[in-house]
Amino acid sequence: MTWALTPLTEEQRAIQSTAREFAQRELAPHADAWDRDAHFEPSIIGKLGALGFLGMMVPEEYGGLGLDSLTYLVALEEIAAVDASTAVLVSVHNSLPTQMIQRWGTEDQKERFLKPMARGELLGAFALSEPDSGSDAASVRTQANPDGDCWVLDGTKAWVTSGTHAGVVLAMARTDCSGDRRGARGIGAFIVTPDLHGYSVGKKEDKMGLRASPTVQLRFDNMRVPVENLLGEPDMGFFHAMQSLDTGRLGIAAQAVGIAQAALTHASRYAAERRQFGKPIKEFQAIQFRLADMATRVAASRALLHAAATARDRGQHITQFSAMAKLMASEAAMWVTTQAIQIFGGYGYVKDYPVERLFRDAKVTEIYEGTSEIQRIVIARELYSRGIWT
Ligand code: CAA
Repeated sequence: MTWALTPLTEEQRAIQSTAREFAQRELAPHADAWDRDAHFEPSIIGKLGALGFLGMMVPEEYGGLGLDSLTYLVALEEIAAVDASTAVLVSVHNSLPTQMIQRWGTEDQKERFLKPMARGELLGAFALSEPDSGSDAASVRTQANPDGDCWVLDGTKAWVTSGTHAGVVLAMARTDCSGDRRGARGIGAFIVTPDLHGYSVGKKEDKMGLRASPTVQLRFDNMRVPVENLLGEPDMGFFHAMQSLDTGRLGIAAQAVGIAQAALTHASRYAAERRQFGKPIKEFQAIQFRLADMATRVAASRALLHAAATARDRGQHITQFSAMAKLMASEAAMWVTTQAIQIFGGYGYVKDYPVERLFRDAKVTEIYEGTSEIQRIVIARELYSRGIWT
């Protein structure tokens, strides 16, 4: 049973239950094996699509469920608690490419891409980072040159979640042809599909965690993208990507909350079962205090996440709140999973119990969609630029 300080509506609780049942039925029996074998199970895409989980915030007129962000994130927490690899697929798809097309796409782009994405027929991916452009996202080097009725893209994208199975990739490339290699202006967002000549999937990363989620490089070699696949204005791609990451970071915060909640649940159960010195270890104050601190950090992370989601649903500017939610939840997830391993002792260090996987999966939440250091930069800049709390 997952609790929340924010009162949930009946509909939100129903979607939360659906997500929990789905995770228990479809993911729990396989999550350990998929992690061990670094196996991505493609049938999951259709199963998520059938439940509407690949169009959660997309309006019903475009084939989605039309839910608010709080409902989406509550469901994401449930999926992450069981299989964080599936959670990142759901998070990236719902928060980044679908939101970008929904917000800045033409009616034609919505018809061709958003509708099948919302139905789960096309999986979405997001390609901003490159081998030499990570935290400094404005230093994108992939070049897009206009040529007749096409843009010709050349370059390599890195760290692309779900890149092996994506049917639609939102790729950022430099449209400024002046030779300037840096700068937020002069970057376009392109809707790229794997059937384009010159598109190829490159190196698949062998990762510490989220092993069932394929992360790859994508190569664009002289790839001709039709002009009608440019999203929005040709020099606004960086801005569109940053605004979408405000929602993306809420998704990663929800993933982190789910992981931390699972670690707390497993550790509490184990502490009740495990006997040492003649009694269950939960009767030792050292264990009780540890569990109390873990529960406090899970509750605080969830409360901040839900408050940020509610702010988004009210139409507020959420850049700083999503950065805060991600920063807090990801660092809490890393800390809580470390404590869970300590409670399990030697059994926490081996793969017989789930906390070892949760610990490995938690780490990346401090890294992707902006490292903790980037979140602190974003929060600090917002503090000064908007004069909030000063
Ligand atoms: N919303 C709207 N506009 C924004 C914005 C936001 N959230 N963030 C920045 N901007 C605007 C700024 O206002 C500025 O506009 P003006 O030029 O009009 O003033 C412009 O964008 C440039 O912004 P900055 O001057 O702040 O740019 P910067 O180069 O100093 O860097 C940064 C900003 C915050 C560090 C940014 O580069 C950043 O977020 N880096 C991390 C990138 C990241 O999160 N990557 C993750 C990729 S996805 C992934 O992880 C893989 C996956 O599939 C999960």
